[in-house]
Amino acid sequence: MSLPLIKSVASNRMQKKGVFRRDRVFDFLVPEAAERLDISQQVLLYLEDVNVAFDGFKAINNLNFYLDVGELRCLIGANGAGKTTMMDIITGKTRPDSGVVTFGRNVDLLELNESQIARAGIGRKFQKPTVFENLTVFENLELSMAGDKSFFRNLRAKLSTEQHDKIAHVAEMIGLPEQIAGVAGSLSHGQKQWLEIGMLLMQEPLLLLVDEPVAGMTHQEMEKTGELLTNLAGKHTVVVVEHDMEFVRSIANRVTVLHQGSVLAEGNMDDIQQNDDVRRVYLGE
Ligand SMILES: Nc1ncnc2c1ncn2[C@@H]1O[C@H](COP(=O)(O)OP(=O)(O)OP(=O)(O)O)[C@@H](O)[C@H]1O
Ligand SMILES: [Mg+2]
Repeated sequence: MSLPLIKSVASNRMQKKGVFRRDRVFDFLVPEAAERLDISQQVLLYLEDVNVAFDGFKAINNLNFYLDVGELRCLIGANGAGKTTMMDIITGKTRPDSGVVTFGRNVDLLELNESQIARAGIGRKFQKPTVFENLTVFENLELSMAGDKSFFRNLRAKLSTEQHDKIAHVAEMIGLPEQIAGVAGSLSHGQKQWLEIGMLLMQEPLLLLVDEPVAGMTHQEMEKTGELLTNLAGKHTVVVVEHDMEFVRSIANRVTVLHQGSVLAEGNMDDIQQNDDVRRVYLGE
């Protein structure tokens, strides 16, 4: 079955179920950061000739990687290929030894620390959900709201109608409108993952980095996660690192294959599967 056919079958099925709503445009997610970024080339992120070595081992090796505004990119590659390290570089956790890393063409991420990078509009979801188990879904989202960093001020302050609507909207986007008043601790593993994505959305990121989102999920949860991530694209730019190839195939538009810290291949899923270098490395052909 060709890739477009797989995609259209999957999205028809999802739309029929109507688990997540695609119809409402997420109008309030227009961060100010976007206005300061030079995205005139339609490129949101540039990594050029980036190198990182750990004790002499080159984890990232002359990496060149570009993300278009609003795309959903899947990043695949064997264990140790450098996927997480690449995300660490983008989010400021790891400093490259050399190279250029800019958000838009003008914001030098290598000059910013981790929290400045987050505030510039780059959100990252780690594999393990870190929701507040004793708080409700609503409260978890409320605490993550952009612009108000004080936990206690946040709890005491009265929410505006707009803020209320935003929380309700995010709850709907992540498929948890019915759980909004329930404590996060009673959510399933998959639902906690969606809540964490929702918490990132409250911060209005331009770029969302998601490392192995479907690990440990049921098949049904995986399907919903795919729908959620594809719905985010367009309004956000999303990078998904994932080993589950069935999942990647179900959501993929453009795929980048990392190998030994460099891009081995890039293209749609069919291109990747037919790529000689990929076949040689993965299938030993
Ligand atoms: N802080 C570190 N110190 C030393 N070596 C590291 C460090 N971080 C990563 N590495 C090494 O760099 C290489 C790339 O690791 P990375 O975690 O980026 O791979 P990955 O593609 O995310 O793999 P996986 O699919 O297993 O998550 C690996 O060989 C890893 O052992
Ligand atoms: Mg990793």
